[in-house]
Parts: sequence; structure tokens; C-alpha cells
Amino acid sequence: MAYNLLKGKKGIIFGALDEKSIAWKTAQRCYAEGAELVLTNAPIAMRMGAINQLAEEVNAPVIPADVTSMEDIENLFAKTKEHFGSGVDFILHSIGMSINVRKGVPYPENNYEFTHKGFDISALSLHRVLQVARKQDAINEWGSVVALTYIAAQRVFPDYNDMADNKAVLESIARNFGYFYGVEKKVRVNTISQSPTRTTAGSGVKGFDGFINYAEKMSPLGNASADQCADYCVTLFSDLTRMVTMQNLFHDGGFSFTGVTKAVIEQMEKE
Ligand code: NAI
Repeated sequence: MAYNLLKGKKGIIFGALDEKSIAWKTAQRCYAEGAELVLTNAPIAMRMGAINQLAEEVNAPVIPADVTSMEDIENLFAKTKEHFGSGVDFILHSIGMSINVRKGVPYPENNYEFTHKGFDISALSLHRVLQVARKQDAINEWGSVVALTYIAAQRVFPDYNDMADNKAVLESIARNFGYFYGVEKKVRVNTISQSPTRTTAGSGVKGFDGFINYAEKMSPLGNASADQCADYCVTLFSDLTRMVTMQNLFHDGGFSFTGVTKAVIEQMEKE
């Protein structure tokens, strides 16, 4: 069901890789709520081609940008302004990558070249996007920026590896930039801390099946799906959440505040 919550709003969606991506679902939901979109992803990810299918579906141009390149991001915002003839009202940052995770290098043995690259893509990219947007005055007053994160920023999940550090910094950037952008232009910046979700990035984490089943059992409402995450993003892009900024918002079926559940105790009693 659509409520026209984003009627007349314009936004940029980073990170739709395939139809499992949280960004993909969010683009579909934003479009259904009346938003006009620009889609972007790393040129290498776009070579796989699926994004064009989404672009057609949501009637949006695709502008490639590697988030580690200032030049690409500057070009993205300039072209987006040209396309809309105005600034944007919302941005979804749905980007994450760790080479240490990909190559199975355990946290205590991290290769720092891999760490730097992953940090650049997964955390610093939010700062870069906000810095360029601010310089080009590319976000309208009361605009909303959302980045996706995971609770490994606060608690240890050993196989989440250096992504835990990346997410901790990402959440900090949202808070700190949120201050400056809020004071200057009433732009709000938040992170959504999502349940484990079966996507390309998610499934790359070692032991993901055990991980997602455990979270399901440890959450009173069960794990939040990618579609439900998309719904939550829509609310944050809408005018109904105008005074929410600099927050890390858990979207996890209650996982973050649950000590233990009956389901987990029953499982332990079997051992
Ligand atoms: P995904 O693999 O579909 O999306 C990750 C995206 O990052 C891809 O579209 C990829 O092309 C993009 N990306 C990687 N390097 C890039 C670069 N240099 N420049 C531009 N884009 C680049 O996976 P998913 O799960 O939809 O991930 C989206 C966000 O959600 C990530 O921040 C992830 O950490 C976060 N998240 C995911 C959870 C999960 O269990 N899947 C749980 C909590 C948060």
C-alpha cells in the first residue's frame, strides 16, 4: 500500500546491486511513494547490468560513481542537479565492502591495505558524499540522509571483522556531520541499524546462516526484512520524521534490547 509520503520529493539511491539489495527495495518503495530518483553505483558493480532493469522500473537515470573518488561524487551531484533542475530531498547510502571479510583474513590478522580500502568505501564515503553535497548546496532544506549500519558497531560479532570498526565510524560521521548540516541547513542525517539480511554483502560474512538464525531467535519480532527496511527508510525520508537527526536507529525486531529469549534458552537446554 502506498501513502504518497514522498510525493514531489527527489532523491539519490546509492548501492542497488541486484534485487536482493536493500537499496533496490528502497528505490522501489520510494518510487511507489511518489519520489523521483537518480540511481548510482560503482562502475564495476554496474557492469553486471542488473541496475538498468531497476532504472527502467523506477524511471530513473543511472549515474556511475565510485564512492572512493571525489571526482566521481562531484560529477554525480552536478549531473543530478542538472537532471532534476534542483537539489535533492533525500539520499540513501547503502554501501559496504571489506576485503578482509572477502578474503577471510581474521580481525586480529587484518591486512591494513585491505582495511584502508574497506574503510574508505564503507565509512569515509558518507563524509565524502556529505562534503560534496554541502559544497554544491545539493540537498534542500529539511532534506534527509540515511546510511545503513549494523549492531557490530556496538557489540562484538567476531566474524563481522573490520566492518565493525567501519560501521562505528560511519555512525559517528552521521552524528557529527548531522550537527553541522542541521545547524546550517536543517538537513538531517541518521543511520539505520538493520537485522542481518540475505544480500550479496550480508551473505559474504563467515557463518552467515548461523548468524541470521540466531538473530531471528533472539528478536521478539524476528528479523526485519529488506522490504521492511525499505519501508523504514521511506518514513525517514518523509516529512513525518522532520525532527529526527544524528540518531542510530535500530530496525531489528527488538534484537538490540533483548537479553535472551525463550527460543534461545530452549535451544541451549538441548545441549
Ligand atoms: P549489497 O551487496 O546489495 O549492497 C552493497 C553495495 O555497495 C553494492 O551495491 C556495491 O556495488 C556497493 N559498493 C561497493 N563498493 C562500492 C564503491 N567503491 N562505490 C560505490 N558503491 C560501492 O548488500 P546490502 O546488504 O544491501 O548492503 C547495503 C548496506 O546495508 C551496507 O552498508 C551493509 O553493510 C548494510 N547492512 C547490511 C546488512 C545485511 O545483513 N545484509 C545488515 C545491516 C546493514
